[in-house]
Amino acid sequence: MINDTYYLNNSYPMPKVGLGVYKISEEEMDIAVETALEAGYRAFDTAYFYKNEIALGNALKKSDIEREDLFITSKLWNDYQGYDQTIEFFTKSLENLGTDYLDLFLIHWPCEADGLFIESYKAMEKLYEEGKIRAIGVCNFNKHHLEKLMEETDVVPAVNQIEVHPYFNQQELQDFCDKHDIAVTAWMPLMRNKGLLEHKLITDMASRYDKTPAQIVLRWHLAHNSLIIPKSKTPERIRENYDIFDFNLELTDIAEIDSLDRGDRQGNDPENVRIGTLK
Ligand SMILES: NC(=O)c1ccc[n+]([C@@H]2O[C@H](COP(=O)([O-])OP(=O)(O)OC[C@H]3O[C@@H](n4cnc5c(N)ncnc54)[C@H](OP(=O)(O)O)[C@@H]3O)[C@@H](O)[C@H]2O)c1
Repeated sequence: MINDTYYLNNSYPMPKVGLGVYKISEEEMDIAVETALEAGYRAFDTAYFYKNEIALGNALKKSDIEREDLFITSKLWNDYQGYDQTIEFFTKSLENLGTDYLDLFLIHWPCEADGLFIESYKAMEKLYEEGKIRAIGVCNFNKHHLEKLMEETDVVPAVNQIEVHPYFNQQELQDFCDKHDIAVTAWMPLMRNKGLLEHKLITDMASRYDKTPAQIVLRWHLAHNSLIIPKSKTPERIRENYDIFDFNLELTDIAEIDSLDRGDRQGNDPENVRIGTLK
């Protein structure tokens, strides 16, 4: 069994595999969460923006897993950056989720041109010091955003959650994060099942390891020291995506998957996202 826990830079344990719940609707949430918990997941990644914090909180309450055995991540939405709004909307996320602390709270996008991420992060530092959040971090921060943040604030972010998949492996940013002990969480780890899982190199490897293409790709992420939050509303896939701790990829196979990189960003470019541009 390969270790399924990552220790963040403040020693707080975070499961390496969590369930991403973006686009999981209220109707789909109960079965997704129940299946995930049965399969062994303890981490769940939501955001105020996903409008499903209440559904996630309710679904988690239906299980008999203790709160301290869960790892809940949420995110500060762009429109609510700024010191006071960060505190206000963190509190709303807590209320939505029906909990009195978050394991991880992240700035969703830097929105650098709007100039509010430093003061938003300072509000998060206060909430962290008060014990209302176990670890704080960011999403979609490039190297220069992280440098500015580390220069102007006290707590080195525990996590940078960024788009990573074999077509866009962000190795340089991963190296920078590794150097500063910032854990990378890969969002869109399966490239939303848009072509990657049918690539011959991946399907051939899947046959060779007797695994599925998704399991090969997820294992590749773990080999690069990334945490992963694959999303699925489909019970079979939810189980499949967690069942990756009983094998390792050979170094040559990791290198082959590395070679698929083509700088092919699928999601928004953090340099272009401003407050109000994403709805
Ligand atoms: N911080 C950010 O800015 C940001 C941005 C985007 C996403 N995220 C987070 O990252 C999570 C994951 O990213 P994502 O949802 O964009 O993409 P993803 O996890 O790469 O892909 C999800 C898609 O892949 C399908 N899928 C899941 N498992 C599969 C499998 N084993 N085989 C084949 N297809 C499979 C799902 O279908 P079904 O659901 O139909 O099974 C869904 O359509 C999100 O849920 C969210 O929590 C964060």
